Amino acid sequence: MSDRHQRGILDFRSDTVTMPTEAMRKAMHDAPVGDDVYGDDPTMNALQDYAAKLLGMESAIFACSGTMGNLMALMSHCNRGEGVIMGASSHTWKNECGNVAGIAGVMPFPVDDSAGCPSIESVRRAYLPSGNVHYARTALLTLENTHNSAGGVPIPVDIFSAVALEAREMGLKVHVDGARIFDAAAYFNVDVKEYSSKVDSMQFCLSKGLGAPMGSILCGSADFIERAKKHRKALGGGQRQSGIAAAAGLVALRDMRGRLSEDHKNAALLADLLNDAGLAVEAVPRRTNMVYFALPDSCLGISFFADRCAEAGLLLGAATEGRFRMVTHAGLDEGHVKSAVILIKEVLSL
Ligand SMILES: Cc1ncc(COP(=O)(O)O)c(C=O)c1O
Repeated sequence: MSDRHQRGILDFRSDTVTMPTEAMRKAMHDAPVGDDVYGDDPTMNALQDYAAKLLGMESAIFACSGTMGNLMALMSHCNRGEGVIMGASSHTWKNECGNVAGIAGVMPFPVDDSAGCPSIESVRRAYLPSGNVHYARTALLTLENTHNSAGGVPIPVDIFSAVALEAREMGLKVHVDGARIFDAAAYFNVDVKEYSSKVDSMQFCLSKGLGAPMGSILCGSADFIERAKKHRKALGGGQRQSGIAAAAGLVALRDMRGRLSEDHKNAALLADLLNDAGLAVEAVPRRTNMVYFALPDSCLGISFFADRCAEAGLLLGAATEGRFRMVTHAGLDEGHVKSAVILIKEVLSL
């Protein structure tokens, strides 16, 4: 249990605030370890093998974070000066500190992904044909599933597959920022391979809904992962007895995927209750574990509202562009959702 939890604070900021379970802590304590830069850590090797099998891909590598996993993928797929087609509201475009350009030296071609998945037409339009000496070679398409800023929207397998197939036929590689790919698989009740088998690489986070304290996994072909390993080292992400982290990751992958639909149920309840309370909840076609909302026009200022909620013991995702985000996760149940909405109503009536 987190210190915040013990103090009765309801933390809806993100699914990254989850605390390691007892089983994770025990596994970390007991894990056999070695120097992972030499490939000697048996627990890390077990996690990477497990993850590769789960996604049906040849190989997998641990990354310190989702951001690092995405960056390693970009650097392994693209040479400097090449182009990547990516969603204009995707995490890689907006929330990874410009590392695509600043570190990878890759040219982003943003496309509309406000509904979650870019359309085939938008990918075709963004693609610069090879053969023209002026153009950057378009090397990669990145997709995000579930799509965070579109509302945590999971992309249906048929739409995802059609876009990925089209991109590959155009000669592009396809990388998926699958920070929450198991939420998408849980939502549609499909095997995650339905997604991973259609693309060249996929990154997923252990530290979000799955509840591990740290880390992400990048999967792909054996050659690709060898390149990613080199980039990870260059980025300072080669770690030593990292089996300590891998042990928690293994428990997360084995034990926590099965409970993600509880988070989705709680988020659906939260959305209904917030609507009833008069907040402008963003409608989404499919809801996983996120709820975005805005304050009614007549209402208090954004920071006044967030500060009063925090004082009352409720933490919300910071409002960017006037949107608040609340995320359900393993540390929150139906009772917490109801209590949060009661607190919000009290703040709104101030
Ligand atoms: C969709 C998405 N991708 C990537 C990341 C980056 O993960 P990390 O915070 O581990 O770098 C996040 C983080 O919230 C995310 O929501």
